Parts: sequence; structure tokens; C-alpha cells
Amino acid sequence: NTPLREYTAKLGKNIGLALGTYRYDCSRDDGETGIAGREFDMLVGENEMKFDATEPNRGEFNFGGSDAVMWVADRFNQEVRGHTLAWHQQVAKWVSEDGKKNNNNFSRRELLDILKNHIFTVVGKYKGRIREWDVCNEVLDDDQSIVRTNPNAYKLRPSIWATYIGEEFIDSAFVWAHQADPQAKLYINDYGVEFMGNTKTEAYHNLIKRLKKSRLPIDGCGLQCHLTTGQLDTLKLEKNIKRYAELGMNCIITELDIALANPYAENALDIQAKEYGAITRVFLRNDNCPSMLVWGVSDNHSWRKNNPLLFDKNLKAKPAYYNVHAQLRLA
Ligand code: G3I
Repeated sequence: NTPLREYTAKLGKNIGLALGTYRYDCSRDDGETGIAGREFDMLVGENEMKFDATEPNRGEFNFGGSDAVMWVADRFNQEVRGHTLAWHQQVAKWVSEDGKKNNNNFSRRELLDILKNHIFTVVGKYKGRIREWDVCNEVLDDDQSIVRTNPNAYKLRPSIWATYIGEEFIDSAFVWAHQADPQAKLYINDYGVEFMGNTKTEAYHNLIKRLKKSRLPIDGCGLQCHLTTGQLDTLKLEKNIKRYAELGMNCIITELDIALANPYAENALDIQAKEYGAITRVFLRNDNCPSMLVWGVSDNHSWRKNNPLLFDKNLKAKPAYYNVHAQLRLA
């Protein structure tokens, strides 16, 4: 069986996955690590490069987890996505208790310094080795009904960064990441922004247009694609990806998983396989979509219930895997 990565390599694309390296013995060639290395040519740490992991105490950096990701990627000759620099979750407790509250009463200036030092240190540490960074993650509020009355609007989610610095935290984060590693490609990433027409998707496009207009060093956007069977609208996904090409931007699939709708249909795994295949075709058809990453290896370790991944709990390839494989082979 030809591994997925052999097909994507021929096509000049990448197929990746999130690996929680701390869960596995990554020196092994079997099990989850074996699958990760054999099938995929791009790696993202599931939690290892987040703020709480990399800077658990102010100014004290811990690169144990992130180094493990780099080590696995070197071992298997994989590209690396860095995830993520400015997010409202998994912020270190010393910054904010819950990612939203300013319970240490930092001034705006101090928060800017904290974010700047974090970005310079983490991005600087892997300068030239991490191909791309998710600079800002999930900055949009889930409620974007505002675009119904103002088609160019967007609303930020309340977070320690947005509330106490203001929208400028996004601009600054991109500038700092670019200064720390001018070669790294810089991305914004979010969920619920996959399908053209829904309010959050439109708000995401509005925000990204604004970032481009402000001439920030942003290369692309990520569509997470945490889906449940029955939700995929291939046409709307593809239309959405294409309009980022018009902005001169990449638009990649960063965290794909497709949970089985509950209660399970008799042919649930085939429905799932069909949808994985359809997304793969969209990925293949669009030049500004150079990579597609799944959020985990097997249904054993997923942040979601209902068997969303390509391998089952016995690490056996599922119909979804075979359909992704078939689409790549036919491309
Ligand atoms: O580190 C502790 C460990 O010490 C403890 O024993 C264990 C007990 O539950 O928890 C561990 O922390 C967990 C961490 O994952 C590491 O496994 C957290 O409780 C848990 O909340 C955390 O979940 C992660 C989640 O982000 C947090 O927001 C998931 O693994 C990770 O898959 C998920 O990934 C996010 C992306 O970064 C952004 N997009 C959405 C996606 C899914 O939520």
C-alpha cells in the first residue's frame, strides 16, 4: 500500500497530522508514531507549542514538548506547522487564569511586552526550521450576526489579548512573528469559517481583507474543518477557498476531523469516507490549498467522541483512509 505522502509529494502538496507526541513513544516505528511517519509528511504539535506549554512561567521557556515535535519531524523528514502564538485557550496561568480575565491587572503595555517576548522567543528558537505558524488562533466571536447589517464587519472574541490590548494585538503578532523569522509563512486559523455564506465565514473573510489592506505579513488562512457527517458542503467550501486565491492568499485545511453523526447510520463509516474523499478532492483541485492536516491519528486519541479520524481504535485504516488514498492516487 503506497503511503499517502508519496502521492502528495508528487503533487507538490503536503498531507499532515496533529500528533500529541507526549502520548506515544516517538522513537518507535510501529503504533501511532509509525502511522504518522509512514503516511504523513507534515506535523503539527497538538498541544506542544501553545503558550502554556512553551512559557509556563514568565520569561521561563520550556521547549521540551516542542523539541519532541521537531525531533519526530526530523526523524520522518516532515514539514512542521507551529501552533499557536496568540490564542484565548491554553494561555499560561500567569498571564490569565482562563484566557479572558486580566486577573493580574497587567497594563496594556505589559501585555504587549508579554506577547512580543513570547513570539520573539518561540518563533526565534525555531527560526528557519518551522515552515509556517498559526500566529493567531480563533480570534473571532462565534456570534457574527453583525454582518447581516454591515457586510464588511467582524467581531472579535473577548480574550485577554483582544480585551486588554485591542485589535492591534493581531497586527502586532504578525509583525513580530515576521521579524522573528522572515522566512516562515504566517497564518490565521479558525473554525466555523469553512462554508461560504454563513456569517462567521463572511466575518473571517472581512477580517482577513482588513489584515491584507493593512499590509501585514500574512500568507494565508486556515480552515480547521472540525465537522460532523452531514455538514460538508463541498461547493461552499470550494467557493470560499477560491476567494482567498483572489486575495493572493493560501487557504489550507488545518484540523480536519469528521465525527459520525449520532445516532450512527448503518453506513456511517461509508458516509464519513465519502466526505473525507470529497474534501480531499477540493484540496487537490485548488492550487492555493497546498496542505491538508487531520487532527490526530486514530479514534483512540481524539479530542472528540464519535470516531472522527482515519484510523480506528485498533489502528486499522478505516474506509475514510482508503477514500483519501484513492483520491490521491487518482489525482
Ligand atoms: O496536561 C494535562 C495533564 O497534565 C493532565 O493529566 C490531563 C488530564 O486531562 O490533561 C492535560 O491537559 C489536556 C491537554 O489537552 C493535553 O492533553 C487538557 O486538559 C485538554 O483540555 C487539552 O485539550 C486540547 C485542546 O485543544 C485544548 O483547548 C486538545 O488536546 C487539542 O486537541 C485541542 O486542539 C484544538 C486546537 O489547538 C485549536 N482548534 C481546536 C482544537 C480542538 O479543540
